[in-house]
Amino acid sequence: MRELFGLEGKRVLIVGGGQGMGEATARLLASLGADLAILDLELDRAERVCAEVREKGITAQAFTADVTQEAQVVDVVAKVEREFGALDGLVCIVGMAGWAPLVEMTTETWDNDHNRNLRYLFVTAREVARGMLARGSGRIVCLASIDGIRSAAGHGSYGAAKAGVIHLVKTMAAEWSAGGIRVNCVAPGSIITPRIPKKAPEEEHALIAPYVPMARRGTVTDIAKAVTFFLSDMADYVTGQTLAVDGGFLATGGFGPPPKMAGGTMGLTK
Ligand SMILES: NC(=O)c1ccc[n+]([C@@H]2O[C@H](COP(=O)([O-])OP(=O)(O)OC[C@H]3O[C@@H](n4cnc5c(N)ncnc54)[C@H](O)[C@@H]3O)[C@@H](O)[C@H]2O)c1
Repeated sequence: MRELFGLEGKRVLIVGGGQGMGEATARLLASLGADLAILDLELDRAERVCAEVREKGITAQAFTADVTQEAQVVDVVAKVEREFGALDGLVCIVGMAGWAPLVEMTTETWDNDHNRNLRYLFVTAREVARGMLARGSGRIVCLASIDGIRSAAGHGSYGAAKAGVIHLVKTMAAEWSAGGIRVNCVAPGSIITPRIPKKAPEEEHALIAPYVPMARRGTVTDIAKAVTFFLSDMADYVTGQTLAVDGGFLATGGFGPPPKMAGGTMGLTK
């Protein structure tokens, strides 16, 4: 089974791998035999994840940088390739949303959202792709959001940045396929993560149930599985794509099932 994924001994850098979706991705990749460079603003988080995944017998090394700073990205990618080794895969997890109605939004919020979702991702992928292109192979997975596909009030700057990520992924695929690099994108729906600790999981699921056909929020492992698919040999002929991992939210146009039908039977059974 492990051979199907083809990830054994592959070197993957996870940017934002210190918690949540990045941490879940690290666990899954480690269980498939990939070696990992975990980069996070919080070095202690990256080190904790490395210590855990090393128990699966893989090599894991922690790195730190603020990826919103171009010079730090350039330096840390060079350091990763020097100390950890030439990269086969890159996963860009970092991303965050500012909330503001457009008429109240400052250009600072706009710029922040574009920097920490789109600009850093361009810079990081560019730096990593140079080495991959020289070696003639590589796999890149980016994190967008369903807010980059449909609009959400209050998420104007974040949504525009994530839509930019989805477009950038297509351009990277167009430019880098001939050089052996595949680039794909995962667009999470509403996911329970450590950064957004709210109520108990059951209460969280109940809140979202009327809008999501699968009637639950997603987990970080749901996202890790999609990222792993794109990184693996299972996606050998797939590039430039965005996969929504959203429990069916977008399939309903973003509105979910009619309230009377929410709950799963869709009126087909008693
Ligand atoms: N949580 C959701 O419901 C949801 C929904 C849609 C999309 N997303 C997207 O999923 C991705 C992950 O979101 P999350 O909430 O799990 O993130 P998170 O904040 O839990 O994890 C990201 C990691 O990145 C690190 N990080 C943050 N800023 C950094 C920086 N400047 N430099 C280096 N590392 C930095 C953090 O320390 C953290 O460990 C993001 O791209 C987000 O936009 C999340």
